[in-house]
Amino acid sequence: MSDKYPPESGRRRFVKGVVGSSALSAVAASSGMVLNTATSTQGVGGGSVEYVGIRNTDGPAPRGLPIVPLRTTDDGTLEGVWPEVETKTRRDGTEVKVAETEIGGFPYSSKWFQYCGVQTLPGAQPGADADNTLRVKGGYQWARPLETGSPVSVDDFDNYEEWGNGVGDDGIGMPLNVTWRNVEEGRALSVELLRSTEVSKMVAGEGEYGNLPGDVREFLDAATTEDCIAWLDKCTHFCCTPGFKSSDYPGAENAVYCQCHQSIYDPFTPVKQQFVALPRVD
Ligand code: FES
Repeated sequence: MSDKYPPESGRRRFVKGVVGSSALSAVAASSGMVLNTATSTQGVGGGSVEYVGIRNTDGPAPRGLPIVPLRTTDDGTLEGVWPEVETKTRRDGTEVKVAETEIGGFPYSSKWFQYCGVQTLPGAQPGADADNTLRVKGGYQWARPLETGSPVSVDDFDNYEEWGNGVGDDGIGMPLNVTWRNVEEGRALSVELLRSTEVSKMVAGEGEYGNLPGDVREFLDAATTEDCIAWLDKCTHFCCTPGFKSSDYPGAENAVYCQCHQSIYDPFTPVKQQFVALPRVD
């Protein structure tokens, strides 16, 4: 078992950088565009949305957990990608902020995270002055020496190729609970981050990963970095907090498990799905 704080090392940082940055900067300038967005007296910006998530494989959860696209800064800090924000005009003439872009050719928007009350968090509002740096929340024994709230670096996961915690197989990936879209006041979004050698295999379509749809792999290529993948840590059933390698429950040992009603999610079979996003508060 290798659940201990990884020593500093000179592990090579490959500079994948902001994959898909061209797509990120290619947001259409459409201030004059009329937007048919779902509205209600409580909020704006909900409606049907297609997203890429880690697949729900068992239990009552209706769908997968939405992936949080990642990038790495020059010093190895991990950030979640928030879509570009623009103001659009609704049919009734009022303006609304939307956050949407393309990542790896796939439409990505803040709607991906609008369920289970997350849509009311300040950081989930498109124009929020929020920090995209992933910050340590903890949750795993190996992470105890890391300071809560400090930026997460890929170097924190130096022994991810061997790490284990006595649940499932060693070497399948090293998880960490993090916060994203941190704001001055109010709760940030909770995200689970995983560094795993399986990530680059998924992107390359190696072995059984060749079954992943091409557009999903293209998205993963742009939304993962340095073998890291992340998803919103909010069960799509009744909103509990699941965890990777958190239980010996049959079938969940090497997956993401929600202890509330035994839903299981597989981070290694991302899928495209649809749901109806709830309106935001702004
Ligand atoms: S399985 Fe019910 S909340 Fe997760």
